[in-house]
Amino acid sequence: MKKHFYQRRLTMFCCCIALLFINGCNKDHGNVLEEEKRMEDNNFGLLINGGKQGIDISETLYGLFFEDINFAADGGLYAEKVINRSFEFEESLAEGGHLHGYEAVNNAELRICSEDVLNDNNPNYLELKTESENSGVRNKGFLEGMSLVKGEEYRFSVYVKSDSYKGKIQINLEDRNHNCIGSGYIEEVKSSWSKREIILKAEETVEKGSLSIVIEEAGTIDMDMISLFPVNTYKNRKNGLRADMVKLLEELQPSFIRFPGGCIVEGNPLDNAYCWKDTVGDVAQRKQNENLWIGTKDYPYYQTYGIGFFEYFLLCEDLGAKAVPIVNCGMSCQARADGQTNTLAALSELDHYIQDALDLVEFCRGDASTTWGSVRINMGHIQPFEIEYLGIGNEQWGEEYFKRYEKFVQVFREKYPDIKLITSSGPLSSGDLFDYAWSKIDSHKDDTIKYADLVDEHYYNEPEWFLKNTTRYDDYDRKGTEVFLGEYAAKSNTLKAAIAEAAYMTALERNSDVVKMAAYAPLFGNTLSSQWKPDMIWFNNSKVFGSVNYYVQKMFANNTGDYLLESSLMDVKGEGATGKIGVGTWKTAAVFDDMKVIDNETGKVLYENDFSTKASNFEGSSQGFYEVIDDEDGNKVYAQTNASYPTNDAIMGSASYVGDTNWSNYTYTVRAKKLSGSEGFLIPFAVKDQKNFYHWNIGGWNNTRSVVEEALGGTKNIVSDIRNVTIQTDRWYEIKVVVNQDTITCYLDGKEMHVIKVPEVFPVYQTVSKEEKTGDIIVKLVNIQEEESKITIRLENCNITEDASVEVLANENPEVENSLKNPENVIPTIRKIKITENYEYVAPANSVSIFRIETLN
Ligand code: AHR
Repeated sequence: MKKHFYQRRLTMFCCCIALLFINGCNKDHGNVLEEEKRMEDNNFGLLINGGKQGIDISETLYGLFFEDINFAADGGLYAEKVINRSFEFEESLAEGGHLHGYEAVNNAELRICSEDVLNDNNPNYLELKTESENSGVRNKGFLEGMSLVKGEEYRFSVYVKSDSYKGKIQINLEDRNHNCIGSGYIEEVKSSWSKREIILKAEETVEKGSLSIVIEEAGTIDMDMISLFPVNTYKNRKNGLRADMVKLLEELQPSFIRFPGGCIVEGNPLDNAYCWKDTVGDVAQRKQNENLWIGTKDYPYYQTYGIGFFEYFLLCEDLGAKAVPIVNCGMSCQARADGQTNTLAALSELDHYIQDALDLVEFCRGDASTTWGSVRINMGHIQPFEIEYLGIGNEQWGEEYFKRYEKFVQVFREKYPDIKLITSSGPLSSGDLFDYAWSKIDSHKDDTIKYADLVDEHYYNEPEWFLKNTTRYDDYDRKGTEVFLGEYAAKSNTLKAAIAEAAYMTALERNSDVVKMAAYAPLFGNTLSSQWKPDMIWFNNSKVFGSVNYYVQKMFANNTGDYLLESSLMDVKGEGATGKIGVGTWKTAAVFDDMKVIDNETGKVLYENDFSTKASNFEGSSQGFYEVIDDEDGNKVYAQTNASYPTNDAIMGSASYVGDTNWSNYTYTVRAKKLSGSEGFLIPFAVKDQKNFYHWNIGGWNNTRSVVEEALGGTKNIVSDIRNVTIQTDRWYEIKVVVNQDTITCYLDGKEMHVIKVPEVFPVYQTVSKEEKTGDIIVKLVNIQEEESKITIRLENCNITEDASVEVLANENPEVENSLKNPENVIPTIRKIKITENYEYVAPANSVSIFRIETLN
């Protein structure tokens, strides 16, 4: 059989030779040949050996990260329709302050009071006074208004009191013109606070509705915690979650949920850090907090904590997901800490934070005799909540963090040795902070008390970065601390980004012995107001839809498998560094001469320019002004004479480049002389365009350093070691860059300065796994090309039946997205197929395909 497979390749090879021969005779066949060649290049073989079992795939590989960002909780998943229900919004953040979201109906007088309050956590309430009939107050709901659905029931509740009012209170659901579309009454108001609740039914469907509370007679009443929920919440719970939004979560079958953040755990500064104890118990008693993801004054953003730790653990239970709670470690958000006070709790004050974390475990596990266990039980959950993980701090970094982290470790290993502790590697995929964290963690590898169970890595990078870094975890220490990829996303909601994520996820599966958990972030984005994009799921007050990235997550999470099967892609050639070459500077004037590019394999000169005639076909960055001038000795040189360029932040600096984007495996030489200015040279190579290139920065950082930087999709990263280099003025330097398929070597005046490993980008990515429960073989294929790929799937020792299905997410345009208007623009489709041991599959352009192949095992 193997022979047959290779035979096919051989036949194609012979056909190709024949065609090439014909081509030599008849030039008219050129286009046909090109097409044939292109198809030949896009023919791959996927060899699967069902007899060879690989690593187990972590059962917790795919999960969720929920943070109250982009109105994900209040105004989002939390089904409450009333904004500012307890009148605690403040003027500094919200238009109208305590009355934000409210307006008077029929000239009622609205006044905020703070004596004889409902409780001390909610020190403000509304006094409504009117001398006329049918006056009251209206709440406009979150963002653009309340969405109400014809025939649906809504649970209205309010705390109310009045010494004098004896009449009825009418509660109205309203359309956008304030016409009543459903109403009910509250009667017999008492003189002390009492909670009243009624069910209203909407007679119309409206998008931008409101709620009004109208007193039928003249009088005065006090109100607090005005609330309106659909009865039909997820599982019809009171204080519940939006059923339509949870449905999308359910369909992801998450294995864990990380909560509550994110930066909101940290606070800005510590005063408004997330305190879990404020988020449990009666919602009327929960102490509202500003949301660190501050909104606008029109769309202010607070946390009512209506979704608090109780609701979180319940959701984990409902979805069959493990809880991964994150606690504050005595540090506020370091990214926001500049110029702030109260950002770091002294080590002597850390006990408070450690106690909070211990109490959280008690909340989950404690019985009625414990303080926090009894809070859970009083909330109706007699059984313990499962808690197996605990994240200490969110995205912290540096020495101060690890000092604090270690204090938690000492206490937790003693009191709760079974709890897996998660430490942090900071906010980036690489760099000093990241390296510091990992070296710190690695240095504790042999400690008798385990230092950390998982390291939380966070990165938001360009799609190109994800494609180029699929080997990231291949080199991680198999015996080192395991990885929790707690937050990641390729920075866009396009199909292109989703496909880059899919390619990367095949690498997560391949490295699942190291990467135990991974979560896309953020989870939710509100289409009307959001602080962060991209997001996995988008919603407004009435609708919700999955981004293309959501569907990739769903496809992978629903088809993970238990262990890998041996598989390899044949005939796939990766792309290393390819592209044009050039010259450049940063706030420096310089001249360049004798540019030359030689093919490393053939020795052929691909490009040569001594500027004796002119510089043609050069392209430049926005402030690369170049011209050919006479050097002092009368030689023609290529010059950038403006030492103040660039005045903008062009990542290429002032660059001028030339050549072919397909150039690969070449040696580029150029001579350079600095005339004036603050730095040295920026030598571009492997330039695809102004957002995707490498440059050798010789004399960067005010003429102190030499590094190679890589720009991917417009974001630049250092990819080499850092050397100390100062470029002198009026002296010629000989620069040489050798670009090979998998390495780049840079020489200055003949001396080797940097050697860089070049990650390759492949046209197709794959993993193959087996699911024990069903016996299915699961094949994942990600075709990142803008053209289709023919893949012969060869199933050896697989014992397959002929029944299979393939689920495909694809579109010819990699820039497509889903949107409110077109929520299903790109969604996967499943079809049943009959499969054989040599199955020819055409993977569409820009596609993710997942096969489930039935076996007899
Ligand atoms: O996911 C959005 C934010 O990104 C999180 O709050 C934080 O942890 C990271 O910086």
